[in-house]
Amino acid sequence: MKPSTRSRASFLVPGENASELGFCALTRRIMSDITDPAMAPGGHLRLEWAYRRMPVLQHLRERFVADKPLAGHNVAACLHVTAETANLMEVLRDGGAEVSLCASNPLSTQDDIAAALVERGIPVFARRGEDTETYYQHLNAVLDTNPSVTMDDGADLVTLLHTTRQDITPLGSTEETTTGVIRLKAMAAEGELRIPVVAVNDSATKHLFDNKHGTGQSAIDGVLRATNILIAGRTVVVIGYGDCGQGVAQRADGLGARVIVVEVDPVRALSAAMEGFEVRTADQAAAEGDLFFTVTGDIHVLRGQHFDVMKDGAILANAGHFDVELDLAHLREVAVARREIRSELEEFELADGRRIIVISEGRLVNLSAAEGHPADVMDMSFANQAMAAEWLLANHQDLEPRVYRLPEDVDAGVAAIKLASMGFDLETLTAEQVDYLESWRHGT
Ligand code: NAI
Repeated sequence: MKPSTRSRASFLVPGENASELGFCALTRRIMSDITDPAMAPGGHLRLEWAYRRMPVLQHLRERFVADKPLAGHNVAACLHVTAETANLMEVLRDGGAEVSLCASNPLSTQDDIAAALVERGIPVFARRGEDTETYYQHLNAVLDTNPSVTMDDGADLVTLLHTTRQDITPLGSTEETTTGVIRLKAMAAEGELRIPVVAVNDSATKHLFDNKHGTGQSAIDGVLRATNILIAGRTVVVIGYGDCGQGVAQRADGLGARVIVVEVDPVRALSAAMEGFEVRTADQAAAEGDLFFTVTGDIHVLRGQHFDVMKDGAILANAGHFDVELDLAHLREVAVARREIRSELEEFELADGRRIIVISEGRLVNLSAAEGHPADVMDMSFANQAMAAEWLLANHQDLEPRVYRLPEDVDAGVAAIKLASMGFDLETLTAEQVDYLESWRHGT
């Protein structure tokens, strides 16, 4: 039985004869498809390092070990294969689930983490840089486990469940990111959604911290690792001032950049203006920026008309979920020359001699050029994920095929544990204050 290699994208379909297929990384004879099992030792260390900064998940793990709320269920997860995700997988397994994992993006897989998880007995189907065909083979592989719960980051698994894999009907699914929630709500609005889904992204302890502080810091981290440029004194254009864009703008500002925000929503644009940022249209900002971040969840927010006026050397980074925010097909078409100038950095030379630099093929910059969000925020996001799986299994009989939020007391619980882990105490209301706040009779 040979371990798989990158050049031989071997693949095992559950139920088929492994020896006929030739496969897979199998230290414990579990079905997997990863790049290199020998990378496991480094993965174990990174996984452990991340776990130390995940106190909410640690807390939850104790309860999951004792109560086994997921016992008897398969959970199929399609998430970025990172150290933090690995810790979530272990907590789900401690909660009694059989788990399997595939990647939610072809470029975000950390191969050492995939190897470590396989060594820990968790099936992983993910190779960094996998092609589209392999990506979808891997999604199908986790669905082949006939899961009770699927976990998505971008709604690719749920989309398969509504297209080519209608043979599988989980009791429910969870969704990690804004773009996935938008897709799911669109499916529900068209009456197409056939299972209940928990929008983990909509929990306050997810999007207010993960999207803002996680993306804010790690998107900058991705740019720094890919380019090693100095941010101070540069003009940074942030397109999309949602939770993620606010984080990126704040961090760029903190590093000394001049920040320009581009928005289509007047309230968010106004908010950016009152935070002290300049607000422009994309056409205006295109000519001024040194470094651009797209964080909209939208398509082609930077396109031909913008590339036409950009400065020589302008750097483009996308932190939105899909690689559609930059119109790279157009850039590839009009470029007279292309080269990889550094790892994760492609330079496009235009006919007039200007060069435009794109990081990581326009894929999520924080996950493809850096390591993704720090464990400190994924702690809360993934505690919410684990509790969403638990909630779905406990309540599925009463749920309709629509998009749900986790109850607010879950948010409060997650925030309280996190706060305590940081060494901070909460003020409590006095009886007089409770009475005052609950009554309408008090006036001047
Ligand atoms: P959001 O919905 O809070 O913000 C998006 C903003 O973009 C909105 O204010 C919207 O008005 C604006 N927008 C949309 N189209 C635009 C256009 N053409 N020009 C200018 N502004 C436009 O969404 P959030 O949570 O900030 O997420 C943004 C994207 O980032 C999504 O695709 C989400 O899935 C992804 N995401 C990425 C993460 C990462 O690790 N890189 C983490 C979390 C979310």
